[in-house]
Amino acid sequence: ADLGVVAVGFSGGQCKPGVDAAPSALIESGLLTQLRDELGYNLHGDDQVHLYTDLVPASDPDYRGMKNPRAVSAVTRRIADQVYEHSRAGRLTLTLGGDHSIAIGTIAGTAKATRERLGPRGEMAVIWVDAHADINTPETSGSGNVHGMPVAFLTGIASDKNEEFFGWLTPEHRLSTTKLVYIGLRDVDAGEKRILREHGIKAFSMFDIDKHGIGRVMEMALAHIGTDTPIHLSFDVDALDPMWAPSTGTPVRGGLTLREGDFICECVHETGSLVAVDLVEVNPSLAPEQDMGAHETVRAGCSLVRCALGESLL
Ligand code: ARG
Ligand code: MN
Ligand code: MN
Ligand code: MN
Repeated sequence: ADLGVVAVGFSGGQCKPGVDAAPSALIESGLLTQLRDELGYNLHGDDQVHLYTDLVPASDPDYRGMKNPRAVSAVTRRIADQVYEHSRAGRLTLTLGGDHSIAIGTIAGTAKATRERLGPRGEMAVIWVDAHADINTPETSGSGNVHGMPVAFLTGIASDKNEEFFGWLTPEHRLSTTKLVYIGLRDVDAGEKRILREHGIKAFSMFDIDKHGIGRVMEMALAHIGTDTPIHLSFDVDALDPMWAPSTGTPVRGGLTLREGDFICECVHETGSLVAVDLVEVNPSLAPEQDMGAHETVRAGCSLVRCALGESLL
């Protein structure tokens, strides 16, 4: 099978340096070689990590409380084109982030390519695996970090007319709230809870996982999406418990085990409907306490991606 790879060394959606180094760390630890040699993918795409420095303006004052708004808007717009081109060529697309703001680009790109392939009613679904809902609007956000807002912009819950501030997102790029499923939530802001409730968005928190088990949760999540719907998997490594993924910008205790994370990815692979995978928020420069933190987090990230792309235990 053909795999389009986009390596995104971008960290402007939040304030801690280091997430931009994740794609090189993942690649150096052998991820792409494994996908080619062990899982048999034909890899497409430039072997370089994109830094998008040409798109980052010298001055980028806050707008509606958002930090680095012009940079994040311009970079995600470029990513949307890159992912769209892979997807249009019929490739499964793997994007290695970067912070989670980059999903504005990846999902916009696959949503557009999917609509072109299946017609206007051909809407894909998104499985968003995360400790956070990332559905703040600029107005509900307490931090102003755009990595906490991608789902709001993608669903149209937040929007702006100005192209410089995500106004380039048009209906063809959008995701409807009925096609979105969250897994792993445990740190959702008050304003986000209101948005989830108002829009009736399907979400499985850690409570649901503890109550039903991950097996039942995946059955319910996939049943919500329905068969024959293309799936975009956006995996924030902070969905995993910090025990398995300590090197990330906003760790939250009480998360998924690595095995549960791998299981989610295996289940999505098993549907045969996967069109794109994002792995985001690995930050090798943050390794609280233990020196092995970064190494473990990178290893966990590689495992998640291999499971989503078809590695099986037997
Ligand atoms: N809800 C918080 C915020 O909006 C944290 C978001 C964390 N997002 C992430 N992609 N790690 O700032
Ligand atoms: Mn998160
Ligand atoms: Mn996230
Ligand atoms: Mn398979």
